Parts: sequence; C-alpha cells; structure tokens
Amino acid sequence: MPGTFSFLFSGFSKLSHADRLARLIQMGALSPSDVDYLNQGGVQGFELAENLIENVIGYFQMPLGVATQFRINGVDYVIPMAVEETSIVAAASKTAKWVRENGTIQTQTLGDEIIGQIQVAKVKDFASFESRILENRDDLIQQANAEVAIGMVERGGGVQDLYVRRIPRGDGSDMAVVHVLLNACDAMGANLINQVCEFLKTPIEALTGERVTMCILSNLVDTKLTIARISLKGIDPQIAHDIAEASLFAQLDPYRAATNNKGVLNGIDPIAIATGNDWRAIEAGIHAFAARSGRYRSVTKWTSNGDELHGEFIAPVIVGTVGGVTKLHPTAKMGLDMMGIQSANQLAQIMAAVGLVQNLGALRALTSVGIIEGHMKLHIKNLAIGAGAIGDEALLVQKRLEKILLNTRRISMRNAVDALRDLRESRR
Ligand code: MEV
Repeated sequence: MPGTFSFLFSGFSKLSHADRLARLIQMGALSPSDVDYLNQGGVQGFELAENLIENVIGYFQMPLGVATQFRINGVDYVIPMAVEETSIVAAASKTAKWVRENGTIQTQTLGDEIIGQIQVAKVKDFASFESRILENRDDLIQQANAEVAIGMVERGGGVQDLYVRRIPRGDGSDMAVVHVLLNACDAMGANLINQVCEFLKTPIEALTGERVTMCILSNLVDTKLTIARISLKGIDPQIAHDIAEASLFAQLDPYRAATNNKGVLNGIDPIAIATGNDWRAIEAGIHAFAARSGRYRSVTKWTSNGDELHGEFIAPVIVGTVGGVTKLHPTAKMGLDMMGIQSANQLAQIMAAVGLVQNLGALRALTSVGIIEGHMKLHIKNLAIGAGAIGDEALLVQKRLEKILLNTRRISMRNAVDALRDLRESRR
C-alpha cells in the first residue's frame, strides 16, 4: 500500500495506548483479535514455553513497540520492535521520517545459499580427499536432496553445491572442510543444513576413508547478503559531511566500528525478536562478516556530496518466515503479519533497512547534539523509578531531573536518588 500510511503515521507517538492500537487497526497492521490478544498480555499459560525450552519457570516480558514512518522500496511499513533500550523505537521513527521527507530506501538480496561445514580434523591426504569429493559431488548432492532435503527441493531450494577447503594446521598437516551450500527458501535453514551435513558424514567417510569429526552450519553466510541503501538529497551539507566523517571513523577504527555496528543491531535485533528469529545467529553472522578482511570494520558506509548523503549496509541477515518459533509463537506471527511479510528475503531486507536508518539516526545525533539529549531525556523516567520513586513521586523526580539535565547536560542515578530524598524530606 505505497504512501497510504503517511497521514496515519502523523502524531502516532503522542497517542494514548488505546488510540495507538486503534490507529494500527486503521492501517491494517493489526486485527481486532490481535488487539484483544495484546490487551490480555499476550501469550497465556506455559505450554508454549514448555515446547520451546527446558526447565521453564515463566516468561521474561520485553516491551513491544512499533516504529513508524518507514517507506522501503516505495512501500510503507509499521515495524514491530521488541526491545528494552530507551529511545531505539523513537530514534528509528524520527530518522525514518527524515529519510521519507528527503530521500529513499532501497534494498536487495545477493545470493541465496546458506553454508554447512563438515570437518575432517586431520586429513591423511588432502589432494585425494578433495578429488574423491569433487568426483562424487553431483551424487552426494543428489543423495542429500533425495534423503533429507526433499521438501525444500519441492519448494524450489535444496542442496546446490559442495566444495572442499584446505586449512593448514600449522604443523605441516592439514584440516579438510567440506562446505555444503543449501537454498533454504523461506526457512532460516539451521535444522535442515545440520541434518544434511550429518547425513553426508557416512557417504563422505565411505568414499574417502577419512574420519569426519564434526558437522555444523556456519553463521558467516557470505553467500547470502542483504543490502540496504539510503539516498538523501537537499539536506544541510554540514550534517551530510559530518555523518560521512563519522562513518569514516567506523571504517578505519575497530573500536568505533564495534559501537557503530552495535547501533546498527539496535535496529535489527528487536525485529528479529518480534518475529521469532534467532538474533544470536544474526549477530554472529554480522560481526564475523564485519571482520572478514582480518580487521573488524563497519557494516555500514556513508558518503556525502554537498547536500547529498548516501548510505549502504551490506551483511548476512539470515532469517526465516516459516517453521521454528515464527510458526509457534503467536506474537511472532503477529509481527510478520503486521509487516505483510511474504518471504524471508523481504524480512531480511526490512531488518537491514531499519539497521541502516538506526545507524543514520545515531550518527546524526552523535555529530550534532550528542547522544545524551535524546537518550537520557527518555531514560529519566527509568532513573526516577530505579531510585525508588512511587506514585506521584515519579513525575516530580522526573521534573527535577529534567531541570538538572538542562543545566548541566548530565544526569545520573545519584541525581535521581538525591532528588527523591529531597522530595521526601520536603514532604515531612
Ligand atoms: C547506543 O545503544 C548505540 C550508539 O552507541 C550507536 C553509535 O555509537 O553509533 C549510539
């Protein structure tokens, strides 16, 4: 529905809780039964938890918000974000609005195969191992597809390729690693690729006379990359220039790159959680990709030219929209439906776009007012509650903290504790 949300996004953050939900129904992002489900507190009972993990004692509840103002590839999206950190949702929405008013977000996926690894820890004869695997490559692929990945083949995917890597052990001997490339279509594919690799262990041992030591997927999926690009025109040239300089800092210095990429993940992880995806796998993949040259680098890059600013995110974002938690968890299903997700690639592209927008918002704040202003203003409420304020005390302590922030540009838990003590003394 390109463009149709614009007026419905307006003023969203100022709405009451109930009006926000009503507005989401108006947008078609939620159904009335979704609203009932959210109002009753989401998942009830422990059956879901018992199906997912072991030794269950309850649920850990995380706030679920929505970022607004996103237009990606010309389509408007409401983005569900499950996250505990103050100001992430607000910064995403605010920056998406800036982008919507001044430019575009375009995304794409490069490649479609995930990677599995089969290790022979100390190969007796690498050359012969490699040639036996390559001579039988088509047969191994055919066996794996017929025996394990048949369902995926029917959906247009399955095992596509096999090749062998040599890893010198440093003592004159070699390790051999077979890489299995599999198209998992709209599944994340972890279970399937692991099953394929474990299945191939026996035929590989029989063919080569070598001993397979372990089989597991790799999270460094450089064979399937998600790209997001933002182009802005007509913005303040100084802002564009300073953001490009901040980006150069992250490209050149691993200390800065780590924090830059954490900011990108502030946009990506909350969507992974809200859609039931494995955020640890995404984090591992993005960080490993950031370090692929041997030095840890930024996964985003911004360049400026006068009043133009161009940004790019490239990294693996491996997610699924079928199977696993996405199917089992009703809130995850709601998150996917909210965005009208049709494929895993579409979801990965939205996540990349939000990661890049989040990065832009952080760099814009860091190169202008600094991070404290946006972050701590919202954090003040948490400080007041953390200091022990109850009832009407919370608002009064917040007001006092806002004054301190305005005067000193600094605020801490100590200020909150002092403000609460003063308030209580003044009331005695
Ligand atoms: C804080 O959660 C994220 C930032 O540190 C990201 C960045 O420095 O780019 C603000």
